[in-house]
Amino acid sequence: VITGSASGIGLAARRRVERSGGLVIGIDRRDAEIEVDLADAGARGAAAESIRSLATSLDSVIVCAGIGRPEPATVSVNYFGAVEILERLRPLLAAGVQPRAVVVVSMAIVHEADAGIVDACLRGDEPAARSAAAGKGPLIYRSSKRALARWVRRAAITHAWAGAGIALNAVAPGVVRTPMTAALLDMPAQVARLRQDTPMPLGGPAEADEIAGALEWFASPACSGVTGQCLFVDGGSDAVLRGDDVWRRPS
Ligand SMILES: NC(=O)c1ccc[n+]([C@@H]2O[C@H](COP(=O)([O-])OP(=O)(O)OC[C@H]3O[C@@H](n4cnc5c(N)ncnc54)[C@H](O)[C@@H]3O)[C@@H](O)[C@H]2O)c1
Repeated sequence: VITGSASGIGLAARRRVERSGGLVIGIDRRDAEIEVDLADAGARGAAAESIRSLATSLDSVIVCAGIGRPEPATVSVNYFGAVEILERLRPLLAAGVQPRAVVVVSMAIVHEADAGIVDACLRGDEPAARSAAAGKGPLIYRSSKRALARWVRRAAITHAWAGAGIALNAVAPGVVRTPMTAALLDMPAQVARLRQDTPMPLGGPAEADEIAGALEWFASPACSGVTGQCLFVDGGSDAVLRGDDVWRRPS
């Protein structure tokens, strides 16, 4: 299963999986096997039901669907749309062979986030997360992704995931050339701001297929013994912004 399979990183992931012979069930608002609005809590359950009618087990779930708009719906799509689909599909993964799940977060998780949004997400309280998001502008996207990255680390090591043999990881892209960023990347002032917020010494913006390569690996049996990790595919932004001592325990 690939969410966000109609465009950008999700579409690049779909093409890679299909090139290597995989059968993909896409979830997206359009141009997908399951067409659904992941901002709508009721529709998420219906989407999972439709997948249960198509498959008795799954090898992998790749969660790409996301939006970057500074509005509360971003929390619903990016956090609740991801976590609920993963939780609902977990039994099908558990029935799979060497099952894997991977979500797309963002290098923006290292930027300042809003604790109220993050905490409400991690409590699973969607109405509270949406009301905490009202008026928070750019903090909404970062907070939805920070919460998702933290959920991955929490959930990955539990009985429900690790205990069922399901590896669960995250990929954090820097700036990627996709329909989501096309308008921004056409505006020189925005490009200068992106370079400042997301310095990419290895070169950037990335192409969607570079991110899809990491997703394909995390979704494959080659990803062995790795869970709860967040891989920054960001041209070096994380190393620039957080430096070389990221493994210390908080005192
Ligand atoms: N492009 C970047 O620079 C960048 C950087 C970091 C992280 N990301 C993340 O990568 C993921 C993919 O983004 P992209 O750049 O490929 O964008 P994109 O806009 O090209 O693709 C996003 C896909 O998600 C789908 N989607 C959005 N809202 C949905 C909803 N409510 N219900 C169902 N489907 C929905 C869209 O229809 C689209 O097909 C997102 O989670 C995004 O936050 C992107």
